[in-house]
Amino acid sequence: MLKRFTAVLMIFCLVFVLAACGDKKEATPSDSSSAKELITVGFSQVGAESDWRTANTESMKSTFSEANGFELIFDDAQQKQDNQIAAIRNFIQQEVDYIVLAPVTETGWDTVLQEAKDAGIPVIIVDRMVDVSDDSLYTAWVGSNFELEGKKAAGWLDAYLKAAGKGEEEVNIVDIQGTIGASAQIGRTAGLEAGVAAHSNWKLLAKVSGEFTQAKGQEVMESLLKQYGDQIDVVYCENDNEAFGAIDAIEAAGYKVGSDGDMIVMSFDSTNAGMTDTLSGKITVNTECNPLHGPRVQEIIDTLQKGGTVDKQKFVDEGIFSYDNSVTSIKVDGTDYPVTQVTDEVIKARSY
Ligand code: AHR
Repeated sequence: MLKRFTAVLMIFCLVFVLAACGDKKEATPSDSSSAKELITVGFSQVGAESDWRTANTESMKSTFSEANGFELIFDDAQQKQDNQIAAIRNFIQQEVDYIVLAPVTETGWDTVLQEAKDAGIPVIIVDRMVDVSDDSLYTAWVGSNFELEGKKAAGWLDAYLKAAGKGEEEVNIVDIQGTIGASAQIGRTAGLEAGVAAHSNWKLLAKVSGEFTQAKGQEVMESLLKQYGDQIDVVYCENDNEAFGAIDAIEAAGYKVGSDGDMIVMSFDSTNAGMTDTLSGKITVNTECNPLHGPRVQEIIDTLQKGGTVDKQKFVDEGIFSYDNSVTSIKVDGTDYPVTQVTDEVIKARSY
């Protein structure tokens, strides 16, 4: 009886093993290997607040495509840090290969980045910076030197006023700031404030956040005009979309923008629409902030995949574009930077 039971058991085991082998053979090599070969990237994006951000999202999505060997899990945080923290936790749960974070503000990341580190997932920070107590919480950062952008803009204003014979006149400035606490706001505001500190005739009448959006830029400008009216000489907008809103508000109030008007508008980003307004003279100067970070982040991941080392922090080279050619170069902290006059060709040569 025992012999018969053992034989039946052996046959059962044999059938089970063969069935298992059969299952393995049935899985087509292309199904399993291609899925495995894709590198999974979880990307937490700030939101869709500006033309710059749209170009940045497009750059990331087109770079981290399946055709390029990636599976991208994209999350739009709608400008809320809590949403970004939830997205990162979700990426950790999904065991992605890399986390890419475009942080809305600099602070508040230590806990969640420690969780990513504990899970052994490299984190790449892109665009704005994080301010963390331990910089081993992220692997690499790539983005803009926002303070240099602000200093370039202030350097241009100094040279522009001197070229117009107004270097000694009193100049009243309003600053429509970006999202408070974002590196782009912190750096650009600091650059302007350094310029104001260096000029006794420059006065910063007000600084108010326009949250990097057109709607808020317009709203803020409407109230600044009610408060200061034609005292305002310079409207320093910390991105193109705020500038579009501010220009709408200025024109609706009956003022003219531009070097031959009532006040000049300065902007950052140099997006296609921003450059078009610079060509027409509505924006007098536009300091570039380059959004095409997809290939830069891919280069970091490619290097890490090969076991190489990457720069901890990498700044992107950026230009400065003006309506006229009254200023052709500026000096910031001992370095000369060319100022390019915007033409149709300059706009055509750019992709965002
Ligand atoms: O961090 C980059 C800034 O964020 C860009 O200037 C702005 O347009 C965006 O929203």
